[in-house]
Amino acid sequence: MRVGIIGAGRIGGGIARQLSGAGHELKLSFSRRPEALEQLAAEIGPKSTVGTPAQAAEFGEVVVVSVPWGTLPEALRQAGSLAGKIVIDTTNQFGGPPLPAPGQTAAQFNAGRMPGARYTKSFNTLTSAFQAQVGGRQGAERVVQWLCGDDAGAKEVVAGLIEDAGFAPVDLGGTADCAVMEAPRRPGAVYGEEYRAADAAAVVEAVRAGRPIPPTPRY
Ligand SMILES: NC(=O)c1ccc[n+]([C@@H]2O[C@H](COP(=O)([O-])OP(=O)(O)OC[C@H]3O[C@@H](n4cnc5c(N)ncnc54)[C@H](OP(=O)(O)O)[C@@H]3O)[C@@H](O)[C@H]2O)c1
Repeated sequence: MRVGIIGAGRIGGGIARQLSGAGHELKLSFSRRPEALEQLAAEIGPKSTVGTPAQAAEFGEVVVVSVPWGTLPEALRQAGSLAGKIVIDTTNQFGGPPLPAPGQTAAQFNAGRMPGARYTKSFNTLTSAFQAQVGGRQGAERVVQWLCGDDAGAKEVVAGLIEDAGFAPVDLGGTADCAVMEAPRRPGAVYGEEYRAADAAAVVEAVRAGRPIPPTPRY
């Protein structure tokens, strides 16, 4: 697939490397140091190019938005309309304002900032170093990337990309249901914790039922 990356730093750059390894085409964008983006694209290989955020959004069948929370308004302004695009939002609500309203998830808040986009949230719960280290694990040790969104077709596509990046996709539900995958790290949440598929089903079941999730697994 063609994937546009807006913010190719620790997380966005890592996703770009992992997806490029699986044969996807990337367009990297949004940097205060254009030469660093060029260098990353050269490292990633011939299927990776550099452009503006608007060009990355235009290029991508899927667009990864991976910038610091406070930079999101400027990144989205530079990207222009994301209507019709499948978006993967990796951001966490550190900093701000603007911040989600009380009772609103960050995913709901950000989906509202990308009108018409086929919004999903993923790749946000684990550190970039851990994601780089464990992506590609096989079998029972494969690490979960949680996923949420209100567009089933978009989530199906993103689940495929999560697999290609070397993780096990697990759909937590809609943007209203995903508080457990959002910052901060705390008891009763999956944010900041390693999960494997065998332990994820019980989490999904609990979230769907509106119950507390089971204790965090230890591996
Ligand atoms: N790091 C983690 O472990 C981690 C884990 C899960 C989720 N997240 C979330 O994912 C998002 C991206 O995090 P990250 O750690 O990948 O960030 P990062 O390494 O700082 O990458 C951000 C990218 O945005 C670019 N950028 C362009 N203009 C910018 C500006 N005015 N200010 C700041 N950056 C600008 C930066 O490029 P230049 O520096 O070249 O300008 C950089 O490539 C955040 O919302 C974060 O909360 C991070």
